[in-house]
Amino acid sequence: MILVTGGAGFIGSNFVLDWLAAADEPVVNLDALTYAGNLGNLTSLQGDPRHIFVHGDIGDCALVTSLLAQHRPRAIVNFAAESHVDRSIHGPEDFVQTNIVGTFRLLEAVRAYWGGLDVADQAAFRFLHVSTDEVYGSLAKDDPPFSETHRYEPNSPYSASKAASDHLVRAYHHTYGLPVLTTNCSNNYGPYHFPEKLIPLVIHNALAGKPLPIYGDGQQVRDWLYVTDHCSAIRRVLAGGRPGETYNVGGWNEKPNLDVVHTLCAILDELSPRTDGQPYRAQITYVTDRPGHDRRYAIDAGKIERELGWKPAETFETGICKTVQWYLDNQAWVGNVTSGAYRDWVGKQYGAQQ
Ligand code: NAD
Ligand code: TYD
Repeated sequence: MILVTGGAGFIGSNFVLDWLAAADEPVVNLDALTYAGNLGNLTSLQGDPRHIFVHGDIGDCALVTSLLAQHRPRAIVNFAAESHVDRSIHGPEDFVQTNIVGTFRLLEAVRAYWGGLDVADQAAFRFLHVSTDEVYGSLAKDDPPFSETHRYEPNSPYSASKAASDHLVRAYHHTYGLPVLTTNCSNNYGPYHFPEKLIPLVIHNALAGKPLPIYGDGQQVRDWLYVTDHCSAIRRVLAGGRPGETYNVGGWNEKPNLDVVHTLCAILDELSPRTDGQPYRAQITYVTDRPGHDRRYAIDAGKIERELGWKPAETFETGICKTVQWYLDNQAWVGNVTSGAYRDWVGKQYGAQQ
């Protein structure tokens, strides 16, 4: 079996669903259920014995140690993190705590477990750390895209904390021989995306008749990857990646934010037109820019294609249409998230104040 951390979040839950749809290898899913964790993403797995959910923190060494001893996973995929740049600007401490201290404690528990395996199991074991292209900093307009050897130049507390975790993971390979893999991926979008991030926020606000906030001039560029393509890349790296290596993952889809928002508005005009006949782009509002806002991210995903034969299956056009349709079909999920109702279940289940 494998241990997934952060498997109730956006990418982690997509990964767990895809993993169990593709094969029968069980998943232990360790998630602290912060505001970003939502077991409603995994309702289709209720009663499925292949999915074992554990409510807990990656920084809880005793818990992780006992899970490793009990389930003896052959691999760990570490998604657990604080992930929103804007939140990291308002409150960086949680990012240091989970992304740096949490990853460190997880690595310590894993190192002890791995050290106790026999030689064959040690060689087969993998620790896959899921990271971001934001660790490389910002590109100028004509710079080549980020390769795996690009200098680390993180600019936000979020990207700095992810960069620190990447360095720890790397060090555990070089110092202790732990068979680690790191993936650095561009911006994901798709089902179960928390509506604090650009794409789900714009879809939600458009349908709710609210402003569509564009930071600054809206000309910041991101590379966008449909989430199931990220999940397939992670599966591929886990299966064939060389221990100690990092792999950049991206969609070859560089878009300025304003273009993304215009595309979303145009799709919504088609699929769910405003009752007053006005286009959704009329709701676009320019707001104060994010401090330290990175201008451009772009990923050279050539290494993972050359070495492991991975390429995205979706184009931006196909992925964004599927995404809008998913949000239109799943308004109850969106309502639960935006009302906070999804958190009542956590309170009921765990009696926790979260
Ligand atoms: P998310 O915020 O939607 O989910 C994070 C999950 O981790 C949540 O379920 C949360 O409850 C859980 N979590 C947080 N702190 C924890 C802790 N201390 N212990 C256990 N669980 C904890 O994030 P996401 O967008 O799904 O991102 C997942 C990973 O992928 C992150 O490591 C992120 O840095 C990375 N990443 C994200 C993107 C993106 O576009 N979203 C792109 C590249 C890389
Ligand atoms: P976001 O989804 O927060 O991802 P990241 O900051 O990790 O790239 O933001 C994507 C881009 O959209 C980023 O350049 C910031 C911008 N943005 C807005 O213009 N308005 C918004 O309301 C949000 C949330 C983001």
